[in-house]
Amino acid sequence: MSAVHVRAPGKINLALRVGAPRPDGYHPLATLFQAVSLYEDVVARPADDITLEIHGRGADLPTDSGNLAVRAAALLRETSGTEAGVHLTLTKQVPVAGGMAGGSADAAATLLACDQLWGTGLGREELGELAAELGADVPFALTGLSAMGTGRGDLLTPVMSRGQYHWVLAVQSEGLSTPAVFRAFDEIHGYGAATAGTRGSGAPEADAGGPGPDAGRPGPDAGRPGSDAGPGQAGDEAGETDADADVAGPDDAPRLDGEIVSALLGADPLVLARSLRNDLEEAALSLRPELGDVLAAADRAGALAAIVSGSGPTVAALALDAPHAASVAGVMRNADVAAEILTVTGPVAGARVLEHVGRR
Ligand code: C5P
Repeated sequence: MSAVHVRAPGKINLALRVGAPRPDGYHPLATLFQAVSLYEDVVARPADDITLEIHGRGADLPTDSGNLAVRAAALLRETSGTEAGVHLTLTKQVPVAGGMAGGSADAAATLLACDQLWGTGLGREELGELAAELGADVPFALTGLSAMGTGRGDLLTPVMSRGQYHWVLAVQSEGLSTPAVFRAFDEIHGYGAATAGTRGSGAPEADAGGPGPDAGRPGPDAGRPGSDAGPGQAGDEAGETDADADVAGPDDAPRLDGEIVSALLGADPLVLARSLRNDLEEAALSLRPELGDVLAAADRAGALAAIVSGSGPTVAALALDAPHAASVAGVMRNADVAAEILTVTGPVAGARVLEHVGRR
């Protein structure tokens, strides 16, 4: 094979509940992920070593083992025992260190691309295990659509979602370090200097994202990566999710409010708007007070609701439909509170192969 092209999406956390840090420095989470139509594209070509070039955003990111994509290829090479190498061409759309898991999408896309290029044939489940070794958000970039994440955010349960949601993203030119935001969270909540952030891998790359036109149809979101069903076709699966159940892990772990799961089933952005919540928002605001202006601008622009995405600094504002999103985006551009204002939709599919070139 002469090349494999894989695309993986960035994400928004519709809800993000965070508990006290664990001894390993990670925080127990209960989160609801939605994959959105900003993509990372990875083209993998045969090579002797593992090399990387970056286009789009992130020109100043490392291209050695400091980059999660290179680490993903190295991990798959080691696990599979292949001696092959790969040259990765990465084109990024997801903001770097923006709280949208762009770096995680790079790693997920790389795992799938190298699996195909090298013929390692690991399958989604084993790739998911490697993904979790690389970072807490990497498994979700593989699966996409909508999912609840527990543990470090890496233990995924598919969540049903109907309809297509329209978001306006306010992207900042300076990213935020994920470990720094978790440390601020610990300070705010009196968790002391604890051990949070000791892994410290999260700086610029841990949260970057990627490019590409719309690949996965936003639409029902039944946890079926690659599903072809369109926005109106999810009704047949209603009822598989116990929307009222409290959903989470061990007793001391944070829990998601069942209301948000019902909101996604109802395909009603007005209901979803009431359920958006991010426990890291206060911490992100403490490090970047200007984000308060962004949230206020979204409100004035008529967004249904706005939240900081993940560890920030990207702000995601929910709109009623595509024309409303365009209008909110226009007003927010004039408010001059962000480097870029983008519109995206979700949910979309997880990492998937777009093209095999030269397959024999
Ligand atoms: O897993 P990943 O490398 O993406 O995480 C980046 C950093 O974010 C971690 O090193 C940790 O400081 C913080 N984090 C956390 N709790 C989580 C996920 C990430 O404290 N559940």
